[in-house]
Amino acid sequence: MGLEWFFRFGYAILIVTIMFMIWASIARATTNREIEHMNYPPCTLNPLCTCSKSSTDLGIVHCKNVPFPALPKMVNHSKVFMLHMENTGLRDIEPYFLQSTGLYRLKISHNFMTEVWDDAFAGLERSLWELHLPHNELIDIPSKSFRHLEKLRHLDLSWNRITQIHHDSFRGLEDSLQTLILKENRITMLESHSFAGLLILETLDLSGNNLWELDASIFRDGMPRLSKLLLTDNILQEIPYEAVTQLKALRTLDLSHNIIYDMVGNDSRSSGKLNLDNFHIEYNHIKQLRPNAFQYFDVVNRTFLDGNPIHTLKHKR
Ligand SMILES: *[C@@H]1O[C@H](CO)[C@@H](O)[C@H](O)[C@H]1NC(C)=O
Ligand SMILES: *[C@@H]1O[C@H](CO)[C@@H](O)[C@H](O)[C@H]1NC(C)=O
Ligand SMILES: *[C@@H]1O[C@H](CO)[C@@H](O)[C@H](O)[C@H]1NC(C)=O
Repeated sequence: MGLEWFFRFGYAILIVTIMFMIWASIARATTNREIEHMNYPPCTLNPLCTCSKSSTDLGIVHCKNVPFPALPKMVNHSKVFMLHMENTGLRDIEPYFLQSTGLYRLKISHNFMTEVWDDAFAGLERSLWELHLPHNELIDIPSKSFRHLEKLRHLDLSWNRITQIHHDSFRGLEDSLQTLILKENRITMLESHSFAGLLILETLDLSGNNLWELDASIFRDGMPRLSKLLLTDNILQEIPYEAVTQLKALRTLDLSHNIIYDMVGNDSRSSGKLNLDNFHIEYNHIKQLRPNAFQYFDVVNRTFLDGNPIHTLKHKR
């Protein structure tokens, strides 16, 4: 009798524990990105958008697929934690408009912004941690607009029409920026020192551009924390060993979908070595792996080679 009770009680505890673990993992998976897609009610001040709160603090505001050529008026005199304008026909952020919002995260996606005023983010110097401007029509990096954002750790300028990066494009973000997303632009060249001094940058995504070479000195100033460099879908012909071996913290290097023809180019003079977890070189033009193919690697835990026309693996005689 006592034993039976013990087992039943034990099962109950087990089931409760399992349910708690499931709940905990769901709760943990709720990131920023998911928060913004949760269904909040229409805002009291403007029912075309949704707001997570309804007082003078609007919380998380999301306006999607409704026409807003300028930011909604309610934003100007409220506190806002996150604001996402998605496909609203927005062309402009009026200077000083956001100054008293205390905004932490701003995302303007699928809109028509061609430039950003220098004072667009005035007042957000100590509050804005994340700025996402994907799928707009920016042709230049709006450096002056974000230069004074002391807390900015995540900058996403993907899917624009940016062609150039200058040596001072990211000045001011040296001590804060951790993630820089420049994918799907039209960048053909990186001026040397483009990323100079970005001391705590961890992820740099340059996928989907028109880069045909990486200057050997591009990372010379050292980016001691850069662990992820994404260069997929460019037009690189050689593995830029000289540039990337300077990145001592690099663990993931993605060079897939380029036109690299050999693991060791005829122009490699690298002195350092790579220590990688993941090396992506799939969908290039590599035909053979020669004995010295991995000469610039100390460690590479996983190499992805699929989609190459490899026909020969040569070994030393
Ligand atoms: C926004 O609010 C500030 C003060 O709260 C005011 O000075 C400014 O004119 C407002 N701007 C717009 C565009 O409404
Ligand atoms: C490397 O060698 C290939 C073929 O041998 C040649 O076409 C190419 O121009 C060479 N590249 C450099 C940078 O020397
Ligand atoms: C590679 O795998 C080993 C063993 O699992 C691990 O200790 C190491 O941290 C991994 N990465 C690198 C870059 O060495």
